[in-house]
Amino acid sequence: MLAQSARLTTSSDFARATKSGVRVTTEHFVGYLYISPVTNNDSAKCGLIINKSVGGSVARHRLARKVRHAVAALASGCDFVVAQGTEAGGHTGLVATMALVPQVVDAVGSQIPVVAAGGIFDGRGLAASLALGADAIWVGTRFIATPEARAVNGYKEALVASREDDTVISRSYTGKPCRVVRNEWTNHYESHPDEIQTFPLQAIASTQANVNHLGYPSGTQVDTSREFYPAGQGAGAVHEIIPAAKLVADIVAQAEQILKQLGKAK
Ligand SMILES: Cc1cc2nc3c(=O)[nH]c(=O)nc-3n(C[C@H](O)[C@H](O)[C@H](O)COP(=O)(O)O)c2cc1C
Repeated sequence: MLAQSARLTTSSDFARATKSGVRVTTEHFVGYLYISPVTNNDSAKCGLIINKSVGGSVARHRLARKVRHAVAALASGCDFVVAQGTEAGGHTGLVATMALVPQVVDAVGSQIPVVAAGGIFDGRGLAASLALGADAIWVGTRFIATPEARAVNGYKEALVASREDDTVISRSYTGKPCRVVRNEWTNHYESHPDEIQTFPLQAIASTQANVNHLGYPSGTQVDTSREFYPAGQGAGAVHEIIPAAKLVADIVAQAEQILKQLGKAK
């Protein structure tokens, strides 16, 4: 079990702790999108670790899509930074997780914990993130396809049906680059980019067109051929809707197995 003191140390300390035989645990998770293992509160994006790590209050964090975002997050006093690669669902940048995470670790990892995000959906992603120098992972898309996640009609099913190349970065819902499930709405704007307005006007336009119901209650009926379904490239690996607790346990068990095997290979 990872000691709480180790949890709060820097990346270099964490690396030392890992080498000294620290086990991978559910504490390697920091964020759960729209669900929290502690409160199960829709508004809580922060889980057990965050609550523990700052003595019961929610830690301040920023998503960094570039190294300079992480440097700015550190300067502004954030408790940790999430290095999110382009693979991620939702608003996203252009640098891939594999390239971004180690560069963010090099830039700020000796001073604040770095959390890897973007395209992580199983234990292989957790093990890889630890190898890249991250302290934890932040998973979004995979958790939408769980019974606990709030999602409008067709969203979870769209994730199960998606392949790895069925998402697209589109400004058509909000005016800002956002990775979503490709559909008739995104296809239209891909061929008519001149019609896209700037943020927040495009968000207002998509809401008025009745294709943007993000955050609405589960079961809300929407036009599934045009609705806003933010999703990352990991959607291709979502084959079924499984409980969040099982998902976390499976990820941890798989990562542990991989790290054990890699340890033996030395
Ligand atoms: C439906 C959805 C909504 C999101 N909303 C936000 C948000 O409001 N603020 C934010 O910083 N990131 C947001 N994100 C990004 C996630 O916090 C996270 O970094 C990302 O989902 C990780 O990549 P993955 O989707 O490949 O797991 C959102 C992602 C999704 C899928």
